[in-house]
Amino acid sequence: MRTIGVFDSGVGGVSVLKEVLKEFPYDNIIYFGDSLHAPYGDREIEEIRALCLKVSDFLVYEKKVDAIVIACNTATGAAMNIMKERYQIPVVGVVDNGVKEGMRVTKNKNIGVIATPATIKMDIYLKEFSKFDRDLKISQVKCPLFVGMIEKGWEDNAMSNQLIKTYLDSLPKDVDTLILGCTHYPLIEKYIKRYFSGSIVDPAKETAKSLKVIIGEGKYTEETDIKFFVSGDSQKFKEVAQEFLGTTIDKVEKTIL
Ligand code: DGL
Repeated sequence: MRTIGVFDSGVGGVSVLKEVLKEFPYDNIIYFGDSLHAPYGDREIEEIRALCLKVSDFLVYEKKVDAIVIACNTATGAAMNIMKERYQIPVVGVVDNGVKEGMRVTKNKNIGVIATPATIKMDIYLKEFSKFDRDLKISQVKCPLFVGMIEKGWEDNAMSNQLIKTYLDSLPKDVDTLILGCTHYPLIEKYIKRYFSGSIVDPAKETAKSLKVIIGEGKYTEETDIKFFVSGDSQKFKEVAQEFLGTTIDKVEKTIL
């Protein structure tokens, strides 16, 4: 049976995992959350790349995965190209898939991207969008405090709502489509919706579908298995992931690479 590796800096990648599970019901999945080193988005690009390669080497050489889903925008920007060269297996990321979906959804070509500081600094969304249409207006806002708050378990209170409002207030008013350019953000999408009334794009679905185009659907052979590995607080990961996935996670193995 095939095994698909999915990784993120922490719990955010479960937003992509959820879609991977829908597209690949007959495959084994290994999820790695590098929460000891989250947020990736506050680090230097070289450092993020080195962390990503540690995780992907673990998935490829120890866990023998057959494909990798980089369930993190920051990691996609910092390490996808090098990972594609390094391994002989399919590697997909979230950014080009988010852009494809954004292009499909926008009506007035004014698109907002919210993401981590590193993702914004790398300009990966700007570069990817410019491949499609140079007349697009892309407005980017970094949201440095979101990831840490989501990792800890988001609290819906006046302060967190004010933070969402403050970040979104810096987008031009005519933005009709908002890309969740960090896989942690779908975990708070219902709160973001309070302050943004246009279309919200979560790249997760397109990402899972893009892998299916490459490797096809699996075939039923035996019961599938999802294994979770986390380098930081495994109990907190479990709580936050369970709430988002709406299922029980039996075991999260603490693994420091
Ligand atoms: N979830 C990740 C992303 O999509 C990064 C979060 C972090 O900064 O660690 O960018």
